[in-house]
Amino acid sequence: MKQLQRPRRNRKNAGVRELVAETHLNTAQLIYPVFVCEGSNVESPIKTLAGQSRWSPDLLSKQIAKWKKLGISHYALFPQVPENKKTPDAREALNDNGLLPQVIKRLKDDHPEINLFTDIALDPYSSDGHDGLVKDGEILNDETVSVLAEMAVKQAEWGTDWVAPSDMMDGRVGAIRKALDSAGYTKTSILAYSAKYASSFYGPFRDALQSAPKAGDKKTYQMDPRNSREALREVKLDIAEGADMVMVKPGLPYLDIIAKIKSFSSVPVAAYNVSGEYAMIKAASAAGALNEDRAILETAYAFRRAGADVILTYFAPDIARLLSGEL
Ligand code: PBG
Repeated sequence: MKQLQRPRRNRKNAGVRELVAETHLNTAQLIYPVFVCEGSNVESPIKTLAGQSRWSPDLLSKQIAKWKKLGISHYALFPQVPENKKTPDAREALNDNGLLPQVIKRLKDDHPEINLFTDIALDPYSSDGHDGLVKDGEILNDETVSVLAEMAVKQAEWGTDWVAPSDMMDGRVGAIRKALDSAGYTKTSILAYSAKYASSFYGPFRDALQSAPKAGDKKTYQMDPRNSREALREVKLDIAEGADMVMVKPGLPYLDIIAKIKSFSSVPVAAYNVSGEYAMIKAASAAGALNEDRAILETAYAFRRAGADVILTYFAPDIARLLSGEL
């Protein structure tokens, strides 16, 4: 048989496969999104997010001591605000005595070397469950941006390392950068959720925070899943407005967007492997349909192959263990 080209030679043994692997994955590239609740000594498992819990600040700090040993040093914090503290103006987002400042302080006291990423959007604090202020059913842009900028300055004051606007209002990155700088927080970084789609894959997250919109949907601010050029526009604006890192969200159904953005972005590109994507792998492996560990790693490598520099994933501890060969 005349067969001059035999690509299989480059896969013939594990050593060769390692030698020619085009993509590498490292625990240092992961950000672990974690949920926080009020109280002490509380672990409240999230039903639709098997294996993930809401933690009170003291227990979260203990958990981080363990996760740090696996090499995870970046955490995105999502506070669960009790329903009775949610209002139409989401003022709890600015409360110096609220849950977020409390947990930031605790974690920074106990683990000064970690990086904290805190979310900028009103939905966890809003009785409407929207990322912006609502008036007569409309999500107000500029009024919301002013609150978001205030929120960013507060979070910087409380000690966060990165603010992460996930709200998709127009002009918020620039407003946040200006507000931070004029308050003297020139070292606080911005991770912009630049290409964030109106997705069905956020279900378990909204369940975890009880933050689903009370009326309507998020389609007037989050992006239409049918569009990709629009993502480039959003990313270019966010970079011009001062984003230090841009993000695509969800992840797996949007690998094409990650690849396109990576081809021109002058800042690092992150992918958010969101709650619904996590839940799918958990459900399929619980049903015996696939091998969970292999699916986790394959997914993480897919993000890296598409061009993501950084991955936000609820699988961070699993990936860290798998990479260190402990599982
Ligand atoms: C809200 C926010 C959402 C997520 C992160 N920040 C949900 C939403 O936009 O409704 C989703 C994350 C996930 O599903 O894992 N600003």
